[in-house]
Amino acid sequence: MQTINVVVLAAGKGTRMYSALPKVLHELAGRSLLQHVLDTAAQLSDCVTQIVIGHGAEQVREAVSSQKVNFVLQEQQLGTAHAVHQTLPRLDPQAIALVLYGDVPLVQASTLEKLLKATDENSMAVLTCLVANPAGLGRIVRDEKGEICAIVEDKDATPEQKKIREINTGMMAIPVQRLQQWLPRIKTNNAQGEYYLTDIVELALGDGCTVHTSLCSDEQEVAGINNRLQLAELERHYQQREAKKLLMAGVTLRDPDRFDLRGKLTVGHDVEIDINAILTGDVTLGSNVRIGANCELKNCQVGSGTIIAANSVIEDAVIGKNCSIGPFARIRPGTEMADEARVGNFVEIKKSKIGRHSKVNHLSYIGDSELGAEVNIGAGTITCNYDGANKFKTVLGDNVFIGSNTALVAPVTVASGATVGAGSVITRDVAEKQLAIARGRQTNFDGWVRPRKLPKNP
Ligand code: UD1
Ligand code: CA
Repeated sequence: MQTINVVVLAAGKGTRMYSALPKVLHELAGRSLLQHVLDTAAQLSDCVTQIVIGHGAEQVREAVSSQKVNFVLQEQQLGTAHAVHQTLPRLDPQAIALVLYGDVPLVQASTLEKLLKATDENSMAVLTCLVANPAGLGRIVRDEKGEICAIVEDKDATPEQKKIREINTGMMAIPVQRLQQWLPRIKTNNAQGEYYLTDIVELALGDGCTVHTSLCSDEQEVAGINNRLQLAELERHYQQREAKKLLMAGVTLRDPDRFDLRGKLTVGHDVEIDINAILTGDVTLGSNVRIGANCELKNCQVGSGTIIAANSVIEDAVIGKNCSIGPFARIRPGTEMADEARVGNFVEIKKSKIGRHSKVNHLSYIGDSELGAEVNIGAGTITCNYDGANKFKTVLGDNVFIGSNTALVAPVTVASGATVGAGSVITRDVAEKQLAIARGRQTNFDGWVRPRKLPKNP
């Protein structure tokens, strides 16, 4: 098997993004453009990926430094050949270099595999594409036999060449040994005064090497991003592709145009997702899970049969089977809901365990708490978990009943089977099966006369 050394060009400025963030760090489907490329590279090669950085070098370094990459600083952006040249000392002379762009996020490993297959020590390969509008791109010039003989940049092209619709995607596979011979010979005698990597085609042919082209049939797959409009268009393309995959795999999406996956979704059978769902990170949905409109789910696991009603937000949580959540519920990180638990409207749960078949149905805040099984939390109950400096726990045993509008001042424990009267402020532990009532006592006054309006001043 050939060794592959991936080189990712990412030194350019991205002027047309009008952003303080380097272009390659802008996100598509929850991952930076560069991360998409690195993830694809990882499917093709076990070697360290070389990233050429320049504009925003420090930000780029920081964003992806924990991965199997090496950064090569290109202080001045003198062209694509100059960029690749900087990486030469880091490349294995026995390897094939695969040149990718940090701003071309959707290229598929399978497409690049075809390109690599066409390459050996005596040949190189260029990934091309037929596009509707080739303006601004390098054109593939072919001879009378249809063989590639050069790539001409838009700014250097004759009016005749400008009509060519087959373009250079920029992605190429070239033996490193050949790069060592060819890169130093590239000159800047062109319209932009840059070192063009595309000149390598003529050098290769001049040295008797074969230049293969591999045609990619999907224009979006090889599309580069230069502005936020193109970024938005590629995002939709990606989302439609993912939506289609899910539909074909048996997931119901009420409207595939109003669905956003920004990570990885694992599903059982007969899952239904209503409009405007945003799924981020790692999300697992068991069979028969139903998600209502406008829900956001991030890094969570949802057991089969659970229903998440509209406008609910769930993050870093594990939800059991046959639970019911929302509408308008917020489940925050560290929450675990056991099977059949219910969390209703305008309820916030943070870092808490909700036991089997327990209910928090209306207008509550439950934080840093442990609820046993069959607990009922009345409307408007609040766990007071924070004294302004520290957080404390609330523990409720099995079968506890908390009356409406109760404040549970942590640290506090209400043991199994205990009951708390509505409107209580509970500051001391309650033992098993006790009734605790902690509120001002009601007084009734006979014949009470209500205040009257004072006469107006004349
Ligand atoms: C390049 C190709 C062109 C192709 C087009 C596809 C050349 C000479 N031209 O043109 O044939 O159709 O891509 O999008 O190769 N970069 C660096 N350092 C540099 C210059 C560029 O890292 O000194 C990086 C950029 O950040 C970008 C990529 O290389 O990711 C391409 O550079 P760009 O300036 O966009 O090249 P184009 O002129 O569009
Ligand atoms: Ca470009």
